Amino acid sequence: MEEGAGGEEYLFKIVVIGDSAVGKSNLLSRFARDEFDLHSKATIGVEFQTQVMDIDGKEIKAQVWDTAGQERFRAVTSAYYRGAVGALIVYDISRRSTFDSIKRWLDELNTHCDTTTARMLVGNKSDLENIRDVSVDEAKRLAEEEGLFFIEASALDSTNVKGAFQIVIREVY
Ligand code: GTP
Ligand code: MG
Repeated sequence: MEEGAGGEEYLFKIVVIGDSAVGKSNLLSRFARDEFDLHSKATIGVEFQTQVMDIDGKEIKAQVWDTAGQERFRAVTSAYYRGAVGALIVYDISRRSTFDSIKRWLDELNTHCDTTTARMLVGNKSDLENIRDVSVDEAKRLAEEEGLFFIEASALDSTNVKGAFQIVIREVY
């Protein structure tokens, strides 16, 4: 957390992680610009966006970092996690393999961040209910075991996107 000169400005670094194509970049573009891209390309390296939010009358800047889910497109991992106070760990509710990877992403997060980093498990693509492959119950169970917040969201129809970021920011704020 950084405090601005006026003592009223806060900057929080949030990282978004998870397998390729789970919708990390679209969650971020929906959050920061209210945009969605049906044909988005895989992220290469690292991108970030800063979004100003009002929480309890205070101006909060959320600096959200997004990286490639694909190993070969990833940048230096330690730099990516450095200073992160919150993390969104994303899977795709219609693709079980992405849920099975959560433990691996948590291992990486735990290697680089301490337990004070707020963690939110995000089941993205909740609009794909008809081809759901991961139940809400088992995701809740994993979240409880691992000490994570949990929410299902959809970057496509905007469900819970702001909410997911807000819960994490409220926790660290
Ligand atoms: P990498 O950058 O490779 O790690 O992938 P990513 O996790 O950033 O995925 P990205 O945001 O690029 O989205 C991958 C695909 O899923 C795109 O075709 C998106 O349009 C689609 N997508 C993302 N979010 C949603 C969602 O909430 N619902 C549906 N139906 N599709 C989504
Ligand atoms: Mg991406």
